[in-house]
Amino acid sequence: MNKSSTNQRLPRAKGIDMGTYYTPKECAKKVRHLVLPDMNRKIVEEFITILGMRGIFEEHRVPIPNKVVMYGPPGTGKTLTAFYMAQMLELPLILVRLDGIIHSHLGETGSNIRKIFEYAKASPCVLFLDEFDAIARTRESNDEVKEMARAVNTLLRCLDDFGDNSIFVAATNLENELDRAIWRRFDTKMIYSNPDESSRRQYVELLINDFEREAGLMEEACEHLSGCSFADIEQIVLKAKRKAIIEHCPLKREHLVLSYEEYNPSIY
Ligand SMILES: Nc1ncnc2c1ncn2[C@@H]1O[C@H](COP(=O)(O)OP(=O)(O)OP(=O)(O)O)[C@@H](O)[C@H]1O
Ligand SMILES: [Mg+2]
Repeated sequence: MNKSSTNQRLPRAKGIDMGTYYTPKECAKKVRHLVLPDMNRKIVEEFITILGMRGIFEEHRVPIPNKVVMYGPPGTGKTLTAFYMAQMLELPLILVRLDGIIHSHLGETGSNIRKIFEYAKASPCVLFLDEFDAIARTRESNDEVKEMARAVNTLLRCLDDFGDNSIFVAATNLENELDRAIWRRFDTKMIYSNPDESSRRQYVELLINDFEREAGLMEEACEHLSGCSFADIEQIVLKAKRKAIIEHCPLKREHLVLSYEEYNPSIY
């Protein structure tokens, strides 16, 4: 496990790093420009409020939520939201590396999953598993890969025994391929999509901010970038800014148009 600024011992499997450790401060740095659509903002805010009222929830014997699944197309803010949650909860984030967990040897994948969950049970953190479908695939489609079917069973047990010291967050682009029993274990589900007009405007404004530009450029950019993911918008705007910088001129419509063409985002 790569770690940044603490000396905590983190699990290793045969010398293979299983994840990366981010302090809450490092998480904060990553999410300076996060745009969360209203629905997801509400979900995250409520989640954080509840975790801040643990005692009261215990009194009422109402379990607190701590298993979140985020799903939707690439570049829409799933990973960024995990960092945001860790920052808001002032917990470290453990970003699990799939290649550090999945192993071709019999039983090894399950044993790695157990180790990482045991770690998270013992040390409060946000345990984040990206590309979750890679290990939580429906068991039917996994007949030929018995190892993965076993891993799903282990994962189910780990989720059931997780306790409430830590938060488990999973993200996927392929929610339909997740095992239904795994799906049922999540108390919080968040759907992500490409930005609507208002989120696009908010994001473009954050990106262009005080960069010198020709009049009306903000509106044109919002229109031109319609259908793009947040990640595409970021790349296209950065490309356009680079063009403006090397030409020593304000950001222009033609920089955006050309950058869009060069970047060629897949719009669906
Ligand atoms: N909602 C958002 N607000 C601000 N920036 C965003 C948002 N979504 C994506 N971005 C930009 O795109 C980059 C990629 O975002 P992120 O990694 O969160 O996407 P993702 O949904 O996890 O994608 P994938 O499914 O490919 O893992 C971010 O680093 C950020 O620059
Ligand atoms: Mg991601």
